[in-house]
Amino acid sequence: MLQKINFPSGSVNFLFDSSFEELWQHYDQQHVVIITNEHISKLYARLFKGLKMLVLPASESSKDLHTIGSLSRQLIDLKATRQTILVGVGGGVITDITGFLASVYLRGVRFGFVPTSLLAMVDAAVGGKNGVNSGMHKNILGTVTQPSFILYDTRFLDTLPDDEWSNGFAEIIKYACIFDAELFEDLAMHNISYYQDEDNDALNKLITRCVDWKIKTVQEDEKESGIRKLLNFGHTAAHAIENLYEIPHGKAVGMGMIIACMISADVSGLEKVVVEKLKALLAQYHLPVKLKFNAAKAMEILKMDKKRVDDNIDYIVLEKTGKAVVHSLPFDTIEKALIAYDSNN
Ligand SMILES: NC(=O)c1ccc[n+]([C@@H]2O[C@H](COP(=O)([O-])OP(=O)(O)OC[C@H]3O[C@@H](n4cnc5c(N)ncnc54)[C@H](O)[C@@H]3O)[C@@H](O)[C@H]2O)c1
Repeated sequence: MLQKINFPSGSVNFLFDSSFEELWQHYDQQHVVIITNEHISKLYARLFKGLKMLVLPASESSKDLHTIGSLSRQLIDLKATRQTILVGVGGGVITDITGFLASVYLRGVRFGFVPTSLLAMVDAAVGGKNGVNSGMHKNILGTVTQPSFILYDTRFLDTLPDDEWSNGFAEIIKYACIFDAELFEDLAMHNISYYQDEDNDALNKLITRCVDWKIKTVQEDEKESGIRKLLNFGHTAAHAIENLYEIPHGKAVGMGMIIACMISADVSGLEKVVVEKLKALLAQYHLPVKLKFNAAKAMEILKMDKKRVDDNIDYIVLEKTGKAVVHSLPFDTIEKALIAYDSNN
């Protein structure tokens, strides 16, 4: 099912409930270069027969300028022109790299995504942000450019490891916390196996619900000057520790959401019971509620966060489940919360 969705900077063809093969009804194979990783290229070799491919190691550490340089040289070798369409097939690491590369190669070529992880389906592939890391600093280099298409083929999830399902649920729980109290209750009534069950269409509904939240938010504020900031709930602390300790994004976001809720109880009147409810929900989806880290080191990285304004950071806090707001917080308030979280573990 093709749905053309308009964003301020351009429209995106969303191919929901599709199959990878349907891509060739819309795009000429001859112009396509697939960007994927070693896992996906092996698991789905049959889908990629005869296609031009660039294959990366399966790791967050490949999401940097070194990879962008190497991929650009490979595109030149393939004689890629402005007619070329880069298609990122993979999780959020691959969609971020593909979007960034396509935004700068020849000052911009067309690109599209086939997200294969739950996290990329509900979040990373949608919205046009394409970032790469520099050292410990997450997504510090990036562009906002919309892809030409996003194709959803949930058959890819059949091979997704359970741990990666949990990581995807971290971003789903994020949408529930910031926008959708009813979703929070729905999630609390179920578990990962329920959504993995092919006999119900709960998973498709869940993906669409999250994608709808992201689409609405980005349509209103593509360049993140207002409401889009709310999508960073849990991400400020997460970004500070995930590359430092090589923690998967989803798990770091889970931890970041607990810290954001602890801060919320002090600055925006969030009932303390919500912190406990969030911890229980994260545990239900096999996400850690305790993580050890060095608060001082995390703080050093956090001071370079994109949302820094002088010695404050625009921090996303909750007033209640389903209602997030932005608070400008001084560094020391955040540092105290990091120390409090660390000493609770
Ligand atoms: N641009 C954005 O708006 C945005 C939003 C959220 C997250 N992100 C980024 O996304 C990244 C996290 O994404 P992720 O959780 O998908 O991580 P990932 O891309 O590293 O994928 C996780 C693991 O799952 C494997 N995998 C993916 N699909 C699979 C499948 N179908 N079968 C078997 N294995 C599969 C991958 O090979 C990898 O080992 C982070 O870099 C984060 O910064 C970006």
